[in-house]
Amino acid sequence: MADAPWWKSAVIYQIYPRSFMDSNGDGVGDLAGITSKIDYLVDTLGIDAIWISPFFNSPMADFGYDVSDYTGVDPLFGDLDAFDSLVARCRERGLRLIIDWVPNHSSSEHPWFVESKSSRDNPKRDWYTWADPAPDGGPPNNWIAVFGGPAWEYDDSTGQYYLHSFLASQPDLNWRNQGLKSAMLDTLAFWLDRGVDGFRMDVVHFAMKDPELADNPVLDQPETGYKSLGNEYDRLVHANDRGHPDIHPMLREVRSILDRAEAESGSAKYSLGEIHLLDWNEWASYYGADNDELHMPYNFAFVNGPWTAQWARNNVEELEAALPEGAWPNYVLSNHDEHRLVARLGWDRSALAILMLLTLRGTPTIYYGDEVGMLQADIPPERQQDPWGQRVAELGRDGERTPMQWDATPEAGFTKPGVEPWLPIVDPDGLHNVAAQLDDPNSRLEFYRRLLAIRKTSSALQLGDYQTIHVVPDEVFAYRRSYGHEVVEIYLNMGQSPVDVVAEGSLLVSTDRARSGAVRNPTLAGLEAIAIIP
Ligand code: GLC
Repeated sequence: MADAPWWKSAVIYQIYPRSFMDSNGDGVGDLAGITSKIDYLVDTLGIDAIWISPFFNSPMADFGYDVSDYTGVDPLFGDLDAFDSLVARCRERGLRLIIDWVPNHSSSEHPWFVESKSSRDNPKRDWYTWADPAPDGGPPNNWIAVFGGPAWEYDDSTGQYYLHSFLASQPDLNWRNQGLKSAMLDTLAFWLDRGVDGFRMDVVHFAMKDPELADNPVLDQPETGYKSLGNEYDRLVHANDRGHPDIHPMLREVRSILDRAEAESGSAKYSLGEIHLLDWNEWASYYGADNDELHMPYNFAFVNGPWTAQWARNNVEELEAALPEGAWPNYVLSNHDEHRLVARLGWDRSALAILMLLTLRGTPTIYYGDEVGMLQADIPPERQQDPWGQRVAELGRDGERTPMQWDATPEAGFTKPGVEPWLPIVDPDGLHNVAAQLDDPNSRLEFYRRLLAIRKTSSALQLGDYQTIHVVPDEVFAYRRSYGHEVVEIYLNMGQSPVDVVAEGSLLVSTDRARSGAVRNPTLAGLEAIAIIP
């Protein structure tokens, strides 16, 4: 257990910095705000690592995922001193710090792009992907941006198009250019020197495309896979605009920067790549054949789906089977791009899902606010801030990015009294906040605290093997975690009706607070989940 790197046993907590804690009363969260809440994260909640979404200089067209200086802090969030204070506080409290790295695209206001755009013979021209118009003057190929519309923007002054997989104000970096590559790798080294423990890597599989810029194949029927965007994006097979095999050598170079920092500091470094792929073998290839690429490709399998026992079991078994030797899984239920957990699953099913998240083999990520069951905000179209929501209201992501609710005051304790937060507070009954739930044994927060505390004392849950338990009713997904002689069994009744299971042991935790003591062939209520020591 002592030999395992921290990221195997850790529980990660994702912070959207605009929305966690506002220390200076401008209605937007900041780094000093996060620093002031480290004790909450460590002592009250009991998590081990935080991942902070981007806080770098940015025009905020995509709220920080459009970076104009990879080694700066946007004044909205503080400055490098505020960052250093955050690092120091995390160190003091033994909390690991993961930051977000956006390798696929910068902001169009990044000085690199400003230079690149200035003329065809600028030395940085090739730091981005420029191409001549098609013979008819249109875009160079049929690629579509994730946020809709062609992935190409025409630049009048130089007569070429540049590539942008997201917004036109997010031009894609050209990782095939050595100068760009080394400048970007330097940004990793910069933050490692400043003391970060790892990186979440934004849409990193997009970073390598077909060098010939070939068209994507067109489907007759739009694909319904991860996030059906309902736009032209789904009509293409994304064979050429992302995930080119050259991504693997690139990731090995990225990994070598982390490995070097690990050797120098004597402290494990970590990478979690945002890889939107549901083909397990392709997904698993991002670990690298010798576990020499990403420490983990982020696993989206449980973000959307029918929540049946068979589906859940298949997900886990397929993932386990696809993992390269020695690779470590991870699980996630929600993030800043998905509707709130309780909105997607409902209250009871979300409790079952959380118990599953924190007991499966792998590193779990929790999204801020889910620990108090924060609700999805209904943002009217005219108030949408998210560029996606401004294009297609249903795809807007503001509803899951509202300020963290610390107490039941009108500002939820997020900002100074009387200040209007950047997005509304969503606590209609005053119950979805930390103050209201702390010390209430039936609250969602107490449920998380209990699960996290149990996990922390259990090597089986943190590092144990996974084994499916097969002899259970159809509606039940059950598994065994074991580490040496220590064993925990988990039974999830994913159906709505009660079921009997054959199991015996002492109860560790149940989604039903009323259950306690010894368990012997229990009847699980609809959507009840239990963990026992057999
Ligand atoms: C990732 C981020 C998302 C962002 C996009 C473009 O998917 O999670 O929030 O909009 O990349 O950077």
